[in-house]
Amino acid sequence: MAIRNIVRSGDPILAKKSREVEKFDARLWQLLDDMKQTMYNANGVGLAAVQVGTLRRAVVIDCGDGYIELVNPEIIGSEGEQFAEEGCLSFPGETGVTCRPAVVKVKAQDRNGKWCIYKGEALKARCFCHEIDHLDGIVFKQRVIRGENK
Ligand code: NI
Repeated sequence: MAIRNIVRSGDPILAKKSREVEKFDARLWQLLDDMKQTMYNANGVGLAAVQVGTLRRAVVIDCGDGYIELVNPEIIGSEGEQFAEEGCLSFPGETGVTCRPAVVKVKAQDRNGKWCIYKGEALKARCFCHEIDHLDGIVFKQRVIRGENK
């Protein structure tokens, strides 16, 4: 495992759409392992592959209730709404209040290609939405309804 550089605001790659993962091979596992280490090293709760410069639809998340890997994730259901302050490892020191669904259901593959269903509430629901947005080239600042740039 290795810590990779996190792409920062201003890098045009953050606005690009990531491609679907088709090969569940050692190269993907290396990417996921590196993303995991990079996320923990930065004290983050989620990281998308684009944030380490790789346009693949892969995300790692740990909101304090366990580590998960989402490959080719899709939101398949959502309920309600929540307003909370959000930040991003690619925008150090910047936060803003976003509106996200209160509960989110996600379908994703694991590192071996097996499909799984995940449900998230509160922070985890926000995290699912935030990271899946990254895969479509959307950053949280585009979702901010009340912002404050420190
Ligand atoms: Ni982010």
